[in-house]
Amino acid sequence: MSLILGIESSCDETAAAVVRDGYEVLSSSVASQIASHAVHGGVVPELAAREHLTALQPVLTEALTAAGITMAELDAVAVTNGPGLMPALLVGLNFAKGLAAGHHKPLIGINHFLAHIYGAFLEDGAGQLESPSSYPLLALVVSGGHTSLLLVSADGQARQIGSTIDDAAGEALDKAAKLLRLGYPGGPVMQRTAEGGDGNRFHFPRPLTGTAGKAVPPEHKYNFSFSGVKTALLYHVQKYADADGSLPAGLLQDTAASYQEAVVDVLVRKTLAAARDFKVRTIVVAGGVACNAVLRERFNQSTPNHIQLRLAQRKHCTDNAAMVAGIGHHYFKRRLFSAPGIDAFARLPVITEVVFVDAAGARQ
Ligand code: KG4
Ligand code: ZN
Repeated sequence: MSLILGIESSCDETAAAVVRDGYEVLSSSVASQIASHAVHGGVVPELAAREHLTALQPVLTEALTAAGITMAELDAVAVTNGPGLMPALLVGLNFAKGLAAGHHKPLIGINHFLAHIYGAFLEDGAGQLESPSSYPLLALVVSGGHTSLLLVSADGQARQIGSTIDDAAGEALDKAAKLLRLGYPGGPVMQRTAEGGDGNRFHFPRPLTGTAGKAVPPEHKYNFSFSGVKTALLYHVQKYADADGSLPAGLLQDTAASYQEAVVDVLVRKTLAAARDFKVRTIVVAGGVACNAVLRERFNQSTPNHIQLRLAQRKHCTDNAAMVAGIGHHYFKRRLFSAPGIDAFARLPVITEVVFVDAAGARQ
C-alpha cells in the first residue's frame, strides 16, 4: 500500500498528483504556462521558473483536495529532478524538499524520461508492466525534449539504443509551427492545421531511414534526426510564400500534413525496425508527441499482431505529475529514497536499469 504525492516542474507545466499503489490516480492537477510562453514563441526558462513558484502551492492544494488526502496521510513525496530546464527543475525540487522535510516524509527524485514511460501504464497497466511476458519492451519517448528508444529486458536491465542526434520530434513540430506562423506549442496546432490535408503532396526528407537510397551508417541505425526536415521546410516556405512571407491557405494545410507525415513516418519506421531487430514483445509510445492522432493511428495500423502496443493515454502524454507519483511507488516499495541534498540535472543520464520491473518476480 502506498500513497505518493508527485511534483513536476521540468518544463512549462506545474503539476501535482496523488497516486495510490502506483497506478490508481486519485488526482492529477496541471497548471499550464502556455499563455505566458506563447508570446515568446517558445519556453523561456527563467519565466518558467517564476511561474512555477507561484503555481506550485495552488496546484498542490488542488491535487490534495481533489484526492481527499492530507499531507499527513502520504507515504512519500516524489519529484522530478531531471532532465529538464534547470531553473524550472530547481523550483519544484526545492518545493518538494521543503514539503518532505516539513512533514517528515521520504523524498524520491524521479527521472522525467522514465516517468513518461511509466505514464503509459497508469490506471490499467499494472498487469502488463509487471508481467515477464511483456519483455523485452521497447519504449519510444517522444516529446519536446526527447526522441529516444529505451530497450528494457525482463530482469529490469535497460539500454538506450537510439536517440535524436539533433532536434527532438516535438521541437521539430514546434519550430515548424513557428516558421508557418501557427503559434505555440507547435504539435497540437500542426495537427489541427494538417487535418484533411494531403500528407503526400510534398515530400519532406526522412533522415537516417535509408528511404532516399542513402545507406544508414551503422552507428545511426536506431538514431533519429529532424534538423534536415526543418531546413527543408524553410526552403519550401521560401519557394511558395506570398509577398508577406506566409503560405496561402490551401498550401498551408498540405504543407503541415506533409511535414507531420515525414515526422510520423520516421518515428514509426525506426521504432518498428528496432522492435523487429530486438524481438520485443511490447512497444510503448509516450511523451507529448504521443498525443498526435496521426502517430497513434499509424502505430495502431503498423504494429505486428504478436507485439503488444501500449500508447500512453492522451492525458498522460504531456507533462503531468501522476506519472511521477506512479513511478515513485516502485522506489517506495524498495525503500529507494533520495538524500535530502539531492540535486537537479539538466541532461538525460545513461540509463542501465528501471525500477518498475519486478526483477525477482520476472526471474521466477
Ligand atoms: O512531454 P511534453 O509535455 O514536454 C516535454 O517533456 O518536452 O511534450 C511537449 C511536446 C511539444 O513539443 C508539443 O508540441 C508536443 O509535445 N505535442 C504534440 C501534440 N501535443 C503536444 N505533438 C504532436 N501532436 C500533438 N497533438
Ligand atoms: Zn516531458
